[in-house]
Amino acid sequence: MSVDVLTPTLTDNWDQPEAWKIANYVAQGGYQAARKAVGMDPDAIITLVKDSGLRGRGGAGFPTGVKWSFIPQTNPKPKYLVINCDESEPGTCKDMPMLMATPHTLVEGVIISSYAVRAHHAFIYVRGEVLHVIRRLQQAVADAYQAGYLGKGIFGTEYDLDIVVHAGAGAYICGEETALLDSLEGRRGQPRLRPPFPAVAGLYASPTVVNNAESIASVPAIVARGADWYKLMGTEKSAGSTIYSVSGHVKRPGQYEAPLGTTYRTLLDLAGGIRDGHQLKFFTPGGSSTPILTPDQLDVHLDYEGVAAAGSILGTKALQTFDETVSVVRTTLRWTEFYKHESCGKCTPCREGSWWLVQTLHNLEQGKGHEGDIEKILDLCDNVTMKSFCTLADGFVANITSSIKYFRDEFEAGYHTPAWELFPYEKSVYF
Ligand code: NAI
Ligand code: SF4
Repeated sequence: MSVDVLTPTLTDNWDQPEAWKIANYVAQGGYQAARKAVGMDPDAIITLVKDSGLRGRGGAGFPTGVKWSFIPQTNPKPKYLVINCDESEPGTCKDMPMLMATPHTLVEGVIISSYAVRAHHAFIYVRGEVLHVIRRLQQAVADAYQAGYLGKGIFGTEYDLDIVVHAGAGAYICGEETALLDSLEGRRGQPRLRPPFPAVAGLYASPTVVNNAESIASVPAIVARGADWYKLMGTEKSAGSTIYSVSGHVKRPGQYEAPLGTTYRTLLDLAGGIRDGHQLKFFTPGGSSTPILTPDQLDVHLDYEGVAAAGSILGTKALQTFDETVSVVRTTLRWTEFYKHESCGKCTPCREGSWWLVQTLHNLEQGKGHEGDIEKILDLCDNVTMKSFCTLADGFVANITSSIKYFRDEFEAGYHTPAWELFPYEKSVYF
């Protein structure tokens, strides 16, 4: 579903029958952009993507064309393109539906992007649990080979490109780009020290572009329609359209494509509003690694700058929505348990901090907390933030500190009252 006629670029074919088949994709104009791109100067494509203002859709929002321009073309080593499809952030569900609906958009984007950075090998790293997505991508890649769009001399040019679809094994940390590269190389996935960034020394210590699936799937439309067209959508600094995942207590959860900068009020309307008889209590703008927001922030513009001004982070644009039946203490406990489980254990503040935070939040949820627990939690969070190796730790702290900021009284109630007494609806659901 989309907000206005300019918007649908990623989701426009989702409701077409069997849109994932190569014949149907080609019938809709698919692979025309790739055909055009391999006749262009690679640097002109990098400039085009830079000019479009496309920013990384995995969460960090780094300018895509700028990242490509970091690949040192004087380096004699092979260049690689790696697509991050390890989508695992709680509440985030945009890449997987996109890959099920139109996998060829990504394959076409990979062809254009690889050509632009002079890579002859590209890897699509998919999280291991989504077997149906892996199979669909493998089929799409096989069909593209058969059509002559991959392999030797693609589209009759001298350009060769091979794509490998690689399944991860279900570790959240392997979505961190350097842990992903370790995993791809066959090692245990743990983040590497940056710098050097992958653009300089990535896969097999060679220059590597790591991009999110949605970022690369956005490229064919930019090549086909131009940078100025793309900039008509979104805001000055956050251009284009994107897929927001709306989940939780809304009537119609799902994926909504809209220009960056759309407010949650608009998206909530599209999603049918909060379920009948209930009110919005809080929401995340970008999954549980981002500080929560409250109903008086419904008009915050969901672009990188707008969300930052509201004290949060746009992240993966995963709008997890909670109504008044939900205990915020229980929610932060559940999120923190997830991050404790997924911490790779490399560094002490993250490994030990997540363990202590779970214990303390668990006591508060049980109504067995002690005076001073909130200060202890905030102190623990302070000792984790910016003192750990990668952003996993900063992420799990963000939802806790923001929850205490907005709902401190609920945490204080945990000194004497179990969460299920304050939120009996939850008891009926979970016990
Ligand atoms: P980051 O800001 O450190 O880096 C972003 C990208 O820009 C990376 O590809 C990095 O290599 C590149 N880059 C940054 N500075 C560079 C430089 N000076 N030279 C060359 N390249 C440079 O962010 P990071 O740690 O890669 O990602 C964090 C984000 O990931 C969070 O904002 C979070 O929202 C998101 N995330 C997404 C998940 C998902 O399921 N999609 C899961 C967990 C987190
Ligand atoms: Fe591993 Fe956590 Fe350290 Fe990241 S912050 S490297 S996940 S222990």
